[in-house]
Amino acid sequence: VTSHAQLAGWEPRYAARAERMRASEIRELLKLLEQPGIISFAGGIPDPALFPVAEARAAYAAVLADAAMAGGGLQYSVSEGYLPLRQWIVRHMGDLGVACEEDNIVVTSGSQQALDFLGRLLLSPGDTALVTAPTYLGALQAFSAYEPRYDELRPEDGNRTPQSYAQAAAAAAARVKFAYVVPSYANPTGETLSLAARERLLDLAAELDIPVVEDAAYAALRFEGDALPPIMALEVARRGGIDNARSIYCGTFSKVLSPGLRVGWIVAPQAMIRRLVLVKQASDLNNSTINQMVMHRLAETAYDAQVDRARAHYRCRRDAMLAALKTHMPEGVTWTRPGGGLFVWLCLPDGMDGASLLDRAVKEAGVAFVPGAAFFHDDRGRNTLRLSYSLATEAEIAEGIARLAKLLT
Ligand SMILES: Cc1ncc(COP(=O)(O)O)c(C=O)c1O
Repeated sequence: VTSHAQLAGWEPRYAARAERMRASEIRELLKLLEQPGIISFAGGIPDPALFPVAEARAAYAAVLADAAMAGGGLQYSVSEGYLPLRQWIVRHMGDLGVACEEDNIVVTSGSQQALDFLGRLLLSPGDTALVTAPTYLGALQAFSAYEPRYDELRPEDGNRTPQSYAQAAAAAAARVKFAYVVPSYANPTGETLSLAARERLLDLAAELDIPVVEDAAYAALRFEGDALPPIMALEVARRGGIDNARSIYCGTFSKVLSPGLRVGWIVAPQAMIRRLVLVKQASDLNNSTINQMVMHRLAETAYDAQVDRARAHYRCRRDAMLAALKTHMPEGVTWTRPGGGLFVWLCLPDGMDGASLLDRAVKEAGVAFVPGAAFFHDDRGRNTLRLSYSLATEAEIAEGIARLAKLLT
């Protein structure tokens, strides 16, 4: 008779890569935050009040009302993605300064799947991925499954020399494989890379002979100033065409239209897309066909209006948060002033700890945020935190920041 104890021991059965897949303590803690009365600056998700519900209802109804469309929508489809949707993306990328064709695009299940696929295609165990510190936690989770080592990019205030990155990788018996950045209104800092920093990053990538992986998740959520060109547009201009370039662009509809439909995309040279299509095929065959059809209709009918609504909506909340921080935060606390996106990044005086502050903030002040350490590939950032203004009303933002500041005064 096999006892329950013998059946239990899963740990030794997992692959080596599973070693690096750990539930973050923070995510566990954040699950407790759904209690009423908590003002949460923790989740970075879009405000559901903005979702194009009527348009989505009409789009699903239209697809299902037409026998041929319904048959297609409920069927498997090509791994590259629904052609009319890719054609919309081609026009959209053209507007951003990236001239490309349908064969330069593969549709993914959100840009999160794009990051997983790029890790799968580019990283052998021990290879180096260059990332900023902090960077998007989901990118670290996606890449870490492929067992890379990380090295730090500092695109704004001075990268190291190409030789220094290459030597550090060689010392670990591997190569630098790509540089990953969120250049506009980053998660978690809200910061944007200047044009000069984008160009310098391309210089570094050219010298190291690696692609820049550009994550444009928040680029459309611009509150002020002129749009900066995507890094990919700069490289395409340098090399005279996308198929001579090495950049890889990850786009998504999640922050503008809906994250629930799970539609993102990768733009890359055709040779790279052909390999990514094989990865997509092996992974899940295709994105939900009907969701791609619906997303295509939403993009055609509602994208521009949704961008305008989202910008106005989140700009007011950003303003409320910056005003409250200025009014209430004591000396020694500093924060970023995002020109778009969903996040403010806050630095506490040295020696203070974001995780212990969260514990007190939840219990004593009814306020939540994400401690910043999770966004670092190494063990820095204990005195930092990420505040999202996406879900709290302006009144809640004012109240929540005042309560948080009281704990620090
Ligand atoms: C920087 C960044 N990239 C990618 C994603 C993934 O989004 P999605 O898979 O919905 O496109 C997120 C989501 O929060 C993000 O913040």
